[in-house]
Amino acid sequence: MSTAVRFHDQHVDETGLSFRDDVIAGLGRSPKALSPKYFYDERGSLLFESICRQPEYYLTRTEEGILAEAAEEIAALVGPESLLVELGSGASRKVRLLLEAMRPSRYLGVDISRDFLLQSTRRLAADYPWLEVHAAWADFSERLRLPSGVEGRRVVAFFPGSSIGNFAPAEAEAFLAGLRRALPPGSGVLIGVDLVKDIDILESAYNDAAGVTAAFNLNLLERMRYELGASVEPGNFRHRAFFNEAASRIEMHLVSECRQTLVLDDHRFEFEPGETLHTENSCKYSRDGFQALTRRAGYRPSAVWSDAEGLFSVHYLSTD
Ligand code: AVI
Repeated sequence: MSTAVRFHDQHVDETGLSFRDDVIAGLGRSPKALSPKYFYDERGSLLFESICRQPEYYLTRTEEGILAEAAEEIAALVGPESLLVELGSGASRKVRLLLEAMRPSRYLGVDISRDFLLQSTRRLAADYPWLEVHAAWADFSERLRLPSGVEGRRVVAFFPGSSIGNFAPAEAEAFLAGLRRALPPGSGVLIGVDLVKDIDILESAYNDAAGVTAAFNLNLLERMRYELGASVEPGNFRHRAFFNEAASRIEMHLVSECRQTLVLDDHRFEFEPGETLHTENSCKYSRDGFQALTRRAGYRPSAVWSDAEGLFSVHYLSTD
């Protein structure tokens, strides 16, 4: 098997047009809001990797522990020779915990950050010479398209990290229902989901002492500057993250420290002191609540694993 990565360009936004359009639409709304998918330029992806190593951000290490422990059971459920599709593959680190046990015949990483995707999948191909590695540059939140010639006996969509939490519950249900329609019969979804817990643990995870989450949030403004030519002073904003109990979600905002104007092309967006740009929701579920959501999306939840403290869960959902 060659260690080359087969690259599939499924990206529809090479011009930055949708980022520009979405910033204009999102800042023109009241309250101001923007999709968290725009965090992930190259610097944002690196900052996110650093968040995952922060002591307060329990999600990554807890999920990795669960996957390492459950790898054989997962492999037994899935069977060999599958096509393993990782949605939002990032550094493709967690999947390594599954590969030896699962022995899929093909791996397809799907990510919105092109350079990051290429670097990670190249490393994967070099480290697992028996695996056929594909990379699709695409926005995984849009319809999944399996590139032609990329089949497996069975498809397993791997969606780790509780990225599903970045959708509102109704969107998560619609996304999972759409994913199910894109998968051939007999497939499965292996998905990591963060659980509701003590507020202090949740809020610390999004307010790390080293300030990496703050830098990740503020990088959105840097990106508006260098990619869109927006006139904005990131130093005049601060990071805020808190748990909204009623909605069961962490909210991240960029808070304006003064009265100021962000200028983009011929648009002017006024910020009052204390006014926020809402940049992310990270929904937290109970195990049963998430299973109910997946049933509504048409799945049969067939296994769930958790850590001893009940911080995080990993679900296996059968498509039929
Ligand atoms: C990618 N996603 C699941 C992360 C989360 O926890 O919602 C993104 C993140 N935002 C701040 N820290 C991490």
